[in-house]
Parts: sequence; C-alpha cells; structure tokens
Amino acid sequence: MTTMMASPTTMSGTGYEAIGAKEFATIQKLMHDHAGIVLKETKQALVEARVNSRLRLLALSSYTEYVQYLEGAKGEDELVHLIDAITTNVTHFFREPDHIDCLQQEVAGWLEAGKRKFRFWSAGCSTGEEPYSLAMMLRQVQGIEGADVRILATDVSTRVLKKAMAGRYRLSKVEAVPEQYRRGAFSPDGGTHAVITDALKRNILFRRLNLNATPYPIEGMFDAIFCRNVMIYFDRELRARIINEAHRLLNPNGLLVVGHAETLLGVDSKFGFLQPSVYRKVNA
Ligand SMILES: C[S@@+](CC[C@H](N)C(=O)[O-])C[C@H]1O[C@@H](n2cnc3c(N)ncnc32)[C@H](O)[C@@H]1O
Repeated sequence: MTTMMASPTTMSGTGYEAIGAKEFATIQKLMHDHAGIVLKETKQALVEARVNSRLRLLALSSYTEYVQYLEGAKGEDELVHLIDAITTNVTHFFREPDHIDCLQQEVAGWLEAGKRKFRFWSAGCSTGEEPYSLAMMLRQVQGIEGADVRILATDVSTRVLKKAMAGRYRLSKVEAVPEQYRRGAFSPDGGTHAVITDALKRNILFRRLNLNATPYPIEGMFDAIFCRNVMIYFDRELRARIINEAHRLLNPNGLLVVGHAETLLGVDSKFGFLQPSVYRKVNA
C-alpha cells in the first residue's frame, strides 16, 4: 500500500501548503496597522494554525487565497475575524490576585474618605474573568452597599466579548474562585458549567474597543484601569500611547494596573510606583 505523504517543507501541518513569506508579511502588517499587534517571524506556525479555521470556513484552498480575500472587498469584515483568530485570550478568575487585593484596599480607603461613585475599566478583558473578578471583590468591600459602582470591560475581539457577555464558565474555572467571592456570583447551568448571576452582570458594560485606535471614545474618568497582559503584544510606540490615554482617563490618584510581565519603566514618568505593576497617577 502506498501512502501519500506531504513534504514537511511545504506543508504546514494544517493540511494546507505552508504560508509564504509574502503572505505572512501581509498578515504581519495588517495585524500591526490595525490592532497594534507585533507578530514576530517565529509566529509563522501560530498564524497558520490559527488562520486555518478561516480558510476552511471560507472554502479557500491556500493562505495565498486567504490574503487575497483579506485584500478584497470583504477584507475589512474579515480583518475582525483575523484578529479574533490570532489574539491570545488566556485568562482566569482572580489572576494575579495581589492586584485585586491592592484595589480592594484602595477602594476601602476611598469609601472611608466619603467617595460614593466608582468607575473601573478592564481594558483587554478577554472572556470576562477579569471584570467579573473585580465585581466579585468590589461587592465585598465594607461600606460599598448603595455606592454607584460601574465597570467598563472592553476587548478588540468580538469572539471573546460574546463569551464574556454570556458569562458561562466551566465548573473547573469557577471552582478556582476563592470561596468567599464565589457565593452568590454564579448559578448552576447543566452540571458542567455555571453562569454569572444577573446581579453581578448588572454593573458591567461590555464593549468592543481597539486599544490601537487612540484617542478612545470614552466619556468619564476612571478610578482604576486594569490593562493586564495586553501590552506585551504591542510595540513601544503603542504602549506609550495607551499609557498616555490611561493617564488622561484616570482621576487624580487613580490606579493603572498592568500585568506582572509588563512594566511602565522607560515609557512614562507621569505615574508613581505603588507596588509591582501597580501605578498611581501623580500628575494631573
Ligand atoms: C491574554 S488576554 C488578557 C486578559 C486579561 N486582561 C488578563 O490579564 O487575564 C489579552 C487580551 O487582549 C486583547 N487585545 C489584543 N489586542 C488588542 C487591541 N488592539 N485592543 C484591545 N484588546 C486587544 C485580546 O483580544 C485578548 O483578549
């Protein structure tokens, strides 16, 4: 019996011929120009694997045809799907919990000082675990009952936003939420999943927002902006623009929280260091 074997040098492992240098460069440029995302040369296999499902769905037979499609009349709509496919959305409830503890202490202090209106922004919220974790923590802060608390949660990916809005998570994810926060935050749904309760969803507004499109069309000021594990995908120029926008949109003494793998070092001096990866707006 003879077996048809594809040459490993020409096949990508996805069933399609490997992406060519020109096509990869086009995708690199589109991702950078539109979403600010830097795709290094080493990401070729990742792009092939992630774009694979788009080729199947559109019944295209090669990455070359896909790039032609992107450059054609339907390109702008397809770009949204390309970004959806390529972005990395890993997240979980109470990720980097020291940030959440830090905000809890700040909010307690603000409440003691008589503040009653709070606005928070989860920028790059992925499938919603970050804003829901904030909401779970906030409702436990002593004295917050009756205060005006709202969270804006944004992402460039429509796919993750849909999941975030549904608020339906596997029990294995839900069980990782500390017991004191879990109570009353979820209702069971069919045994394998649980859904965020309406009471918790009520104060969260999910919206699509591209962090590369500055200035942001946002009205109002925030007390804290969580922009964690997002800027790692961007170049220095975009990181600086995001930090400037965060500064503009924060109340005096407001907090900017970035991921532990990220830093504001060398990009900005308008923030003071509060604790690792948590910065306070110091200059108005
Ligand atoms: C790794 S997740 C981080 C989620 C959450 N902040 C956390 O720390 O767990 C990164 C998110 O950034 C989003 N993202 C990437 N580029 C973006 C852009 N240009 N504008 C807005 N969001 C973007 C991705 O879609 C993804 O959901």
